[in-house]
Amino acid sequence: MKYYVRTYGCQMNVADSAEMGRHFKAKGLVETQDENEASIFLVNTCTVRQHAEDRALSEIGRLRRWKARVPNRKVVVTGCAAERTKEYLEDRFPFVDLVVGAKSIEDFGVLAERLLDRRVTDEELEYAAPVDDKVAAFVTIMRGCNYSCTYCIVPAVRGREIYHSMDQILGEVADRVAEGAREITLLGQTVNSYRNGPNRFADLLKAVAQVDGVERVRFISPHPYYMTDRVIETMAGVHQVCPSVHLPVQSGSNTMLKQMLRNYTREEYLDLATKMRRAMPGMTLSTDIIVGFPGETPQDFRQTLSLIEEIEFDWGFIFKYSPRQGTPAAQFESHPQELIEERHQECLELIDRIAIKKRLALLGTHQDVLVEEDNFGRTRTNYKVHISEDIAAGEEVRVRITNAQRATLEGAVDNGNVTFKNFREEGRTAINAG
Ligand code: 5AD
Ligand code: SF4
Repeated sequence: MKYYVRTYGCQMNVADSAEMGRHFKAKGLVETQDENEASIFLVNTCTVRQHAEDRALSEIGRLRRWKARVPNRKVVVTGCAAERTKEYLEDRFPFVDLVVGAKSIEDFGVLAERLLDRRVTDEELEYAAPVDDKVAAFVTIMRGCNYSCTYCIVPAVRGREIYHSMDQILGEVADRVAEGAREITLLGQTVNSYRNGPNRFADLLKAVAQVDGVERVRFISPHPYYMTDRVIETMAGVHQVCPSVHLPVQSGSNTMLKQMLRNYTREEYLDLATKMRRAMPGMTLSTDIIVGFPGETPQDFRQTLSLIEEIEFDWGFIFKYSPRQGTPAAQFESHPQELIEERHQECLELIDRIAIKKRLALLGTHQDVLVEEDNFGRTRTNYKVHISEDIAAGEEVRVRITNAQRATLEGAVDNGNVTFKNFREEGRTAINAG
């Protein structure tokens, strides 16, 4: 049995990979440089910032097919991004067998042992069935970042923005579609700052939506500064572009936003939120927030809480500020960890309370779900839905939301008066007509 390691990030990660490799070797495994002959694929991730993480995430996404090609293959995801986004990883990539955060690397030996001894369940065997196509694919449109947010290491480690040409992107999109993709997520550090010749992000959105076979287009992560009227109008006007935006705000305090060099104010962000929601009623808006940034006073923190309440984000990721060596903010005096923890907790509770309220409002509504695998799919607004019936991946079905307690909604196929049984007999037209 052979294992393959792909390492992202710093020297520490390289060292961790070697250490984890030794655990595998102790169990009699042999390292290979060829992923095709491996039974275990280990991805050691880096969370230096979204860009590094995006690369790891698209890699993990790709591994679904790698895993499906040969029975009993295992995917292991470790490292900093695994630590930070464990739940998201497990949610987004359910085929991953083991997630080990950076803090748990020392436990890796025990966890790996368990993984290797685990009996293959029927569920796992099902994944090993003939290669199924990836319905939702990522396409990188740019790399790097021209901003210099004071907490962020990305500009230092990734350099200035470079953009892929429209031709290259459209070619990649067509390739993904040929492989079975129906949904394309465009990736970039500040994805909406994209430019290529006379073209801007809005032009790219339109062009991608027009590629034959593309049913849905998403993008992560946009920067508020580039969320122009044209982008919003394009989103609203082009049906394929999904009404869901993940727009990092970082803080609700103008003082903090200035210290972070974010290039917008609280008021401008609020205006944006209003504009987008007006253009796309029913859209979802999610965000990233950093709590405990150096100099964040109780008043600044209250401003963040009040912004969350005012906007009512559909969901959000709350980050404890962590100084990154080499960034301007690392020179500032940090808050005590307990204070950051406290604010993190308070912020999490608020954002989750609102997220639950938002989800519960979906109970009984009808949503178009694009099925990605098994019985799971996503709404256009980007909620994950578990469907009680078996629907082939790549199909879009109308479901009625039957449970919204958890982050993954429950739904039942419901095409108006047509029962599920009828739907199966009538095929897609029944759905499209309904
Ligand atoms: N500390 C904490 N969170 C950070 N982020 C970026 N840099 C840091 C840092 N030094 C967060 C931001 C960004 C998300 C991907 O990670 O909220 O949007
Ligand atoms: Fe970092 Fe700011 Fe660039 Fe995002 S926009 S990658 S937070 S510097």
